[in-house]
Amino acid sequence: MSDPKSESIESVLAENRSFHPPKSFAEAARIGTRETYERMWSQSIDDPERFWGRIACELPWLEPFDEVLDWSDAPVAKWFGGGKINASHVCLDQHLETERADKVALIFEGEPMGDGGPEIRTFTYAELHGEVCRFANVLKARGIGKGDRVAIYMPMIPEAAMAMLACARIGAIHSVVFGGFSATSLEDRILDGGCKAVITADGGWRRGTVLPLKPAVDEAIAKCEATEGGSPVETVLCVQRCGNEVDWTEGRDFWLHDELMEVSDECEPEPMDSEDVLFLLYTSGSTGKPKGIVHTTGGYMVGAYLSTRFVFDLQEDDVYWCTADIGWITGHTYIVYGPLANGATMVMYEGAPNAPHEGRFWEICERHKVSVFYTAPTAIRAFMKWGDEHVERYDLSSLRLLGTVGEPINPAAWIWYRDKVGGGRCPIVDTWWQTETGGIMITPLPGVSATKPGSATQPFFGVDAAIVDENGRELPDGQGGLLAIRKPWPSMLRGIWGDEARFRETYWSKWEHAGKPHFYFPGDGARKDPEGNFWIMGRVDDVLNVSGHRLSTMEIESALVSHPSVVEAAVVPRPDDLTGEAIVAFVIPTGSVEDVQAIVEELRDHVATEIGKLARPAEIRITTRLPKTRSGKIMRRLLRAIAAGDDVTQDTTTLEDPTILDELRAGGPA
Ligand code: WTA
Repeated sequence: MSDPKSESIESVLAENRSFHPPKSFAEAARIGTRETYERMWSQSIDDPERFWGRIACELPWLEPFDEVLDWSDAPVAKWFGGGKINASHVCLDQHLETERADKVALIFEGEPMGDGGPEIRTFTYAELHGEVCRFANVLKARGIGKGDRVAIYMPMIPEAAMAMLACARIGAIHSVVFGGFSATSLEDRILDGGCKAVITADGGWRRGTVLPLKPAVDEAIAKCEATEGGSPVETVLCVQRCGNEVDWTEGRDFWLHDELMEVSDECEPEPMDSEDVLFLLYTSGSTGKPKGIVHTTGGYMVGAYLSTRFVFDLQEDDVYWCTADIGWITGHTYIVYGPLANGATMVMYEGAPNAPHEGRFWEICERHKVSVFYTAPTAIRAFMKWGDEHVERYDLSSLRLLGTVGEPINPAAWIWYRDKVGGGRCPIVDTWWQTETGGIMITPLPGVSATKPGSATQPFFGVDAAIVDENGRELPDGQGGLLAIRKPWPSMLRGIWGDEARFRETYWSKWEHAGKPHFYFPGDGARKDPEGNFWIMGRVDDVLNVSGHRLSTMEIESALVSHPSVVEAAVVPRPDDLTGEAIVAFVIPTGSVEDVQAIVEELRDHVATEIGKLARPAEIRITTRLPKTRSGKIMRRLLRAIAAGDDVTQDTTTLEDPTILDELRAGGPA
């Protein structure tokens, strides 16, 4: 096994191995020749309206659109104006008229391994359609309708996908909150979105134990009630998954299975304007407050449909498995909307990759004959660490294509994935994108691209990406700079819920031109090699990426300072072999600290309560001072170097008090 530790960003820069798709793959691929790819790509850039107009016509519109793009109100784009469409109709109803009606849409595998093997539930397209219609009727019966916001706080079970599709069917806006977020995070999102209902479960299975969810919903709503405006939540719908004991509020809480008995399985899809909101999904930015990214219906569905089809080269008999959680954008676009819009068969797994053993993912691949597999670099690094024997025990010959997403992948992990999981024969698509982009933006096309370990390679159709400097000037190949997107694309975000100013400021103000927003600023640094391949170098703002989960330094700092023993805190990332980045916090306590270990543990737990376990710092260093410039700004770059154990090479003359460096270094790991 190669050692991920031996690598550094320099080795990524020096990486020049290149892998061409096997001939047999290219021959059978949806796009298998460079000529086809280049022709389509040029069309998509030279005449995007024609390109996207044609692609959009492959979806079933309830009423045709009459204008492909209206960018006159930039940066708020209007795609497919005049058209009416419904996302659940695109994902389900369109297939019912075809042979796909009886094709398996969803294979679910629960985590617990009973004596007779795990629980497996499958749904054909016709069955899934029936379930979603009934679910939608339950929502309607509870007074939820078009434009209402519904929070979804669920484990990875079929009802999670059904809940999203049921909302889409009646035109309600879903706001999925990852089940690993705390009650406080859920409260914030319920209040910000003004959610009228919450869909949850008693609990979900995680590493052999029940992870309760309903108690967090109760706590979140109680906290909402204690706010000035009160709680917007009128209804809680609860799925019975684990049978764990839950508290019940009569008149507000309802069991889904009871409600389903009362409703019919017929529910017409609500015709939505192309630009009606489909969902909100909260993500972290540079400031303390997560932002509700707004995605609308028509453009998002067109982007999800096309990218799933071509990036994963979906064929009719594929069994596709994306291991993300539906709480993240990857789960929205590449578990629910993209695969179903393409009529694919997909796998959904409830639990952890090492429950009850480290080969669980590969066991699932073998059992269901997974052919397309999409996961995160962090998971791949964990598999490497657990050892090759767990992979080698299973027959993975059904796999034909592999993907990664969420963070930069180090070449050693890429090569391991290719050799050990892909048997050296499966192309790897390293896909760069964001919650805001809605769909994959920079990616290999598996039948065409020569892939390179660590590079997301080239922009997808319609994506005009460039490396620019602070002033928006394009940089020469090889030079690192800021990634910029120079054209609107259908699945782009339409705003931040309730905060248009922040939307303009965050993404569109950096490179204004003649008073107009010019390019989209994703917040990532990157460079391009002479062959036109993009190498993403990570965030250039205060966003952290821990195990592919996006968090903001300020969000964690605010959580820390909300603890009575903390005066001030500064959070920085430190490179980590397993999680990509790890969270390091420098904390100034209110008084003298007797027991450092105790306060450190208390603060880590406090962050878990405020945000969720995923935000718990790996290391907390207690200090009496923080390095500041004379104007009072915390010098984060310096803290980063100290956290990483690197020599401080940067200029420290602006530092208010240079002796502080020794104290911070001596602090060492707490
Ligand atoms: C990072 C996840 C390198 C990047 C879909 C981006 C990546 C942020 C890659 C978005 C990749 C995502 N290579 N970095 N293939 N994919 N990122 O919103 O920093 O959770 O800005 O969306 O993850 O994270 P988000």
